[in-house]
Amino acid sequence: MHVCSAEFLQSANRPDSYPPADWPEIAFAGRSNVGKSSLINSLLGRRKLVRTSRTPGRTQLLNFFLVNRAFCLVDLPGYGFARVPAAVRRQWGPMVRIYLETRPTLRGVVWLLDCRRVPNEEDLQLLDWLEELQVPTIPVITKIDKVKRSQRVRQLKPILAATGLPADAFSVFSALSGEGRQEVWERIEEALGL
Ligand code: GTP
Ligand code: MG
Repeated sequence: MHVCSAEFLQSANRPDSYPPADWPEIAFAGRSNVGKSSLINSLLGRRKLVRTSRTPGRTQLLNFFLVNRAFCLVDLPGYGFARVPAAVRRQWGPMVRIYLETRPTLRGVVWLLDCRRVPNEEDLQLLDWLEELQVPTIPVITKIDKVKRSQRVRQLKPILAATGLPADAFSVFSALSGEGRQEVWERIEEALGL
């Protein structure tokens, strides 16, 4: 994918504040701090278009980005961060669920898992929703630079066991090295029908 333009459109927390449903759309979902914003920045080749943070839970709204004036990428708020106020945490489920249920232009969700963590109930809840709502899902294991190559297969076993997905369902990605970037783009292009 050649990225000619990428612009922030708007933030939203419910359908009446989403941007117009004029372009096909791919959303990025996963626990707080898993690397959603970093993946989007890496895909777009923009270091700072999407704000990333060492402090989990910084992205608490849906953020819409228009790419090449042709399709949207949506940075969804992360879940599962204890230090986020309870009121904000309670909003997460409905905010994401309503988006997944109602967005007519949604073509797929990139679902991120940290290579060093066994997926928990919230991760699996999201996977259930995606399956229930029949949203094409692109599972991505992030921060793969944190694991030695020789340890990869062993490291990823608990993720495969917890999700019930085969190894080849996952793309592995590192925002540091750029590994997997091309593969993730290809899967996004396919989901967008480009
Ligand atoms: P929220 O917005 O809180 O939901 O987090 P997020 O999923 O958008 O994570 P973000 O992209 O802000 O990254 C969180 C932290 O992980 C930052 O310190 C990033 O630099 C770091 N990080 C993200 N991706 C990678 C990666 O592939 N490798 C390594 N080593 N660090 C990463
Ligand atoms: Mg973020």
